[in-house]
Amino acid sequence: MLRPRQRRQQRAMDQENTLPPESLLGNTYRIEALIARGGMGEVYRARNETLGTLHAIKIIRAELAGSSTIVELFRREAMALRQLRSDAIVAYDGIFRDERGRTYLVMEYVDGPSLARLIGVRPLPVEDVRRMAINVAAGLEIAHDKGVLHRDLSPDNIIFEGGDMMHPKIIDFGIARVDGAGEGTLLGGQVAGKISFIAPEQLGLYDGKVDARSDIYSLGLVMAAALLGRKLDMGRNIETALAARRQVPDLSALPEALRPVIAAMLQPDPAKRPASMSDVILRLYTPGSLRSSLPPAPAIDVPAPAAPRRPKGLDRKRLLIWAGGALLLAAATFGALLALRPPTPGAEAPAAVPAAAAPAPAAAPAAPSPAAPTPEAPGGFLGDRAKTR
Ligand SMILES: Nc1ncnc2c1ncn2[C@@H]1O[C@H](COP(=O)(O)OP(=O)(O)O)[C@@H](O)[C@H]1O
Ligand SMILES: [Mg+2]
Repeated sequence: MLRPRQRRQQRAMDQENTLPPESLLGNTYRIEALIARGGMGEVYRARNETLGTLHAIKIIRAELAGSSTIVELFRREAMALRQLRSDAIVAYDGIFRDERGRTYLVMEYVDGPSLARLIGVRPLPVEDVRRMAINVAAGLEIAHDKGVLHRDLSPDNIIFEGGDMMHPKIIDFGIARVDGAGEGTLLGGQVAGKISFIAPEQLGLYDGKVDARSDIYSLGLVMAAALLGRKLDMGRNIETALAARRQVPDLSALPEALRPVIAAMLQPDPAKRPASMSDVILRLYTPGSLRSSLPPAPAIDVPAPAAPRRPKGLDRKRLLIWAGGALLLAAATFGALLALRPPTPGAEAPAAVPAAAAPAPAAAPAAPSPAAPTPEAPGGFLGDRAKTR
């Protein structure tokens, strides 16, 4: 707890560092408002004076501008974003330095509430969560294809453009790992990712090998939080977080339609999870998750789409493959049901429980180097991230 005098000092420092509204960055971006202040930097809404377009600008906090670790985190976020093109991922515009030498990252401005904000109001309809998850998984699949792992997927880092559940955008690739950008973690003993949403291997279980399946685990927790209207209790410190990840959490309160896929995504052992985001998408299309899905109820600020739309970020070929797979599964389920001849004709078929995923692909990336530098930032700059030691 800060004493009143310290609090005053902190406030004065913050004010001094904050870019005033109307100031011009890089001779181009007119600052309109401060959107958020994180541990590493501030995020502003700004308008490109030449194009008239709105942008989100993430700028390093002045007192951290000299920190090579923080600058490197910004650089990595830019590296990750610049190679990703997906409607489900925030679009990148560039990384620059201001007159004072502060690095700033320019992105498209996503106008809408975060998933965290919606979850705070009430549980979300199962059909909305299913569609959101398909879109987020499609975006992350593109990232994984390019060798980028998000590693910090959480309800804060998904924003719904225009409040529409069909338009999620993933933000905050600040601790993303980019193939070829060096394996070493910049975070030293800090856990990379928010403790409530990270995978067991991000806490060092299963040899600490973080790969695409870690983002799958996080997406499972995000879906559970959206369906419940609160996050699952996955522990608040390292000990309780580890204990909560040694088994699949209790999912009995979740709607039946999505329980099997979420249970598969939350397997403690990465080898037992769906092997890829396309596998997740296929499971989200299976008869089990379609059969008992409810029609989308009007959500808070969220206009319910009239008819299912093609998930964004999926190209035609992939969609055909998934749709084909889903049809085959539907046919197989139907065939099996005919063969079983249920005693009560017309009774609902049991939910299709997808088979356990095949053992995961090889190519698991190397564990982060323990010798990596520790952050120079003041303690706690990672929000609810915790130290492993
Ligand atoms: N492109 C964007 N459009 C709109 N708001 C954004 C955007 N990027 C970030 N924000 C806002 O700023 C907050 C902090 O940004 P984020 O990249 O998540 O950094 P942090 O590492 O501090 O969580 C987000 O939770 C969101 O509210
Ligand atoms: Mg964030």
